[in-house]
Amino acid sequence: MPTTAVTGSASGIGAAVCAQLEKAGHTIIGIDRKTDDNFTSIAADLSTAEGRQNAIDLVYQQSNGVLDGLVCCAGLGVTAPNCGLIVEVNYFGVTSLVTGLYDALRQGEQASVVVIGSVAANQQVAAPHPMALAMLDSDEALATKLANEDQQAHIAYAASKFAVTSWSRQTAVKWGGNGIRVNVVAPGAVETPLHQASKDDARYGEAVRNFVAPIGRNSEAEEIASVVTFLQSNQASFIHGSVLFVDGGMDAMMRANSF
Ligand code: NAI
Repeated sequence: MPTTAVTGSASGIGAAVCAQLEKAGHTIIGIDRKTDDNFTSIAADLSTAEGRQNAIDLVYQQSNGVLDGLVCCAGLGVTAPNCGLIVEVNYFGVTSLVTGLYDALRQGEQASVVVIGSVAANQQVAAPHPMALAMLDSDEALATKLANEDQQAHIAYAASKFAVTSWSRQTAVKWGGNGIRVNVVAPGAVETPLHQASKDDARYGEAVRNFVAPIGRNSEAEEIASVVTFLQSNQASFIHGSVLFVDGGMDAMMRANSF
């Protein structure tokens, strides 16, 4: 029975991933700000170095140092309390956990890591932004400072998702030889509390509500979780370093010629 740790397990995509992986026979270790009664779970704040280390230590304890899967769903959207937090959770909360759990994943059976990115990673502002470069340089203090000075939550979000996607692909190249697959799932608009908060937001709500995928609707969290569950199975044994858009055609609509 594979053991898989899932961050952001208490809500939205993470909760749907836990339910589907459990059904597929995985033992789940959930990680979120609060513990969950449904499965083994860890309360940790992934926005801080101490919280991340606490999560890593407890996953080692609860998995006996052997992890077959890691799914990083925890994240904040444009309604986060401040822009620095977006960077801290969406980038450093992911990269620290994936790196910190490397030894446990190496002990796992055909281990697989999935990071939840976003279609927003491909926005023009994201890639060259100094905030994204600071993240990829592992300079948390600078990235957070730039995000808080800028106060443009959509840019902090896009930059954090660009950086975490790029980092995941670089990590896939490094880790492939050690038998650990690493992939990114990039959703479009998914009906979760995060997305509802964005739709209700005074600053971003109208743009979010008007950005509709070619397929004509938003997705449910279960439609993202089923792709994650596939990636965590042996049926996906040669998918490595990929970004899977699960977005109803949003990426195709924005950049049909980039693939
Ligand atoms: P959600 O708000 O339903 O769930 C996010 C979870 O992350 C929550 O349980 C929350 O407590 C946890 N979390 C946030 N900050 C944390 C922290 N400091 N420490 C520990 N846990 C923390 O959101 P949703 O929509 O399920 O988002 C999951 C991922 O999917 C995020 O990375 C988000 O950026 C991404 N995504 C979501 C989209 C959407 O339309 N809902 C679209 C594209 C990507």
